[in-house]
Amino acid sequence: MYTSPAQAPERKPWTVPMLADAKRDGRRLAMLTAYDAGFARAMDQAGVDLVLVGDSLGMVAQGRDSTLPVTVDDVAYHTACVARGLSTALLLSDLPFQSDATPQRALDAATRFLQAGAAMAKLEGAAPHKLEAIGYLAAREVPVCAHLGLTPQSVLRLGGFKVQGRDERAAARLREDARAVQEAGASLLVLECVPTALAAEITAELRIPTIGIGAGPHCDGQVLVLHDVLGLDSGHRRPKFVKDFLAEGGSVEGAFRAFAAAVRDGSFPDAAHSYE
Ligand code: KIV
Repeated sequence: MYTSPAQAPERKPWTVPMLADAKRDGRRLAMLTAYDAGFARAMDQAGVDLVLVGDSLGMVAQGRDSTLPVTVDDVAYHTACVARGLSTALLLSDLPFQSDATPQRALDAATRFLQAGAAMAKLEGAAPHKLEAIGYLAAREVPVCAHLGLTPQSVLRLGGFKVQGRDERAAARLREDARAVQEAGASLLVLECVPTALAAEITAELRIPTIGIGAGPHCDGQVLVLHDVLGLDSGHRRPKFVKDFLAEGGSVEGAFRAFAAAVRDGSFPDAAHSYE
């Protein structure tokens, strides 16, 4: 057991191809969102595998009611900040609302994020123009993470932040969308607010790793928003899947370590933090 960072074993920096290896080897992935270098550094030191500059920054950092007002400039700025805090974790950045409305717009935004230090761009949905954007990016050396289930950029159409895929028709659609984003070229898939059994089926069927948030324990990894893992009240309703790891972790870095450990040993999320 090492006692100081200086004695800690060297960890290999994450690369995109290592995600597929992790799925093959059954190694669960721990992912958190970050918006600045300080928290990013603590996550990196705690052994968090993936760090996402999510457009959740609109709700938790900018105090807005949805992610819709977040801009490409906002995400590029926070990506550069977070990248300075990381040495091992893989950095992903969200394509904000309408920045992926055409493949070329998506490429322009993603290029800024990769030049700021991200290794992947994440985009929500599987509508035909989204699949086209995924393929366009993947063919131009931009690794892509897809995001299905509750896609917060669809909040106006969905009428709120609700669990998705509950009836058989919606579940079939979600299965089909998951196959489609994989075939379009995505290397990773976030599943948000999806019943446990459906997320498990999708995870078992796909070659690419799935990262759950409110999608039960059978995904290949889990993600939480920074403010939620620390139990901070960001002024929004706390969904069922959120867990405060600060008390058991004893410090900010300890909370990140406790989250990563709970993801790896399969104890998070339990039934109390998942949807039937
Ligand atoms: O914006 C975000 O933080 C996200 C995660 C919740 C997956 O998309």
